[in-house]
Amino acid sequence: MRPVVVAANWKMNTTPGDAGELARTIAARTVVEGPVERVICPPFVCLAAVGDALRGTGVAVGAQDVHHELSGAYTGAISAPMLAGLASWVIVGHSERRRDARETDELIGRKLHRAAEAGLRPIVCVGEQLAEREAGRADRVVRDQVAGILAAFAADPTALATSRLVVAYEPVWAIGTGRNARGSDASAMAETIRDAIAAAGWPALAPAVPVLYGGSVTAANIGEFLAEPAIDGALVGGASLKPDEMAGIVARAGLTASARVGTGG
Ligand code: PGA
Repeated sequence: MRPVVVAANWKMNTTPGDAGELARTIAARTVVEGPVERVICPPFVCLAAVGDALRGTGVAVGAQDVHHELSGAYTGAISAPMLAGLASWVIVGHSERRRDARETDELIGRKLHRAAEAGLRPIVCVGEQLAEREAGRADRVVRDQVAGILAAFAADPTALATSRLVVAYEPVWAIGTGRNARGSDASAMAETIRDAIAAAGWPALAPAVPVLYGGSVTAANIGEFLAEPAIDGALVGGASLKPDEMAGIVARAGLTASARVGTGG
């Protein structure tokens, strides 16, 4: 049975002065009965404050990125060992980093490998551009992203198998735009992603990998995604800074999580 995960990606918002209070408020407003894994990913400089605020709440802390090397002459960068004690999860390969930092599948794979080595639970993002979907190529693009990223584990397959990998399907055209994928399309893509993981050499791991949907998720539309058995939660951007929205999203996720525990699947 796959877990239900709701991860908040705060992106470049909040400061060390206000992040702790927001985290504490969200933690208090998202207490639900079902076993939902809650994660908050603030900017690097807010990790310590958010970690302090979340101690004892059951909400985990994640970073938004990690460097592909362990140390060295990389001005401004943060490596996996530096995150020890500050984060237990990490987002890797977000489309905004593909866009702004020119991250490639190969580089994202190296980052994922570093996260796995360090015991950071990775949320790896994949997703197509609008033109690619309109051209009927979304499936191919996402398959190629998965294959390109997982190639980093060709010589070390166990590291991926034990990484507790989570994948977020985030169609680029749905991020921050108020436009959503359809639940049925997101569900089909979740199956494509698991298929690609199996095809890349991890057939036993594939069915156990949680796939989240991301892209303008709100309390009002989360139900469409969680109604799909192939989808295991959400990676939430804009709405994750709003406690009311997070309360609604996690409440809905709690229903799914409870139902899964109840039915054993
Ligand atoms: P959004 O962002 O919810 O603001 O669309 C999602 C994400 O980028 O992870």
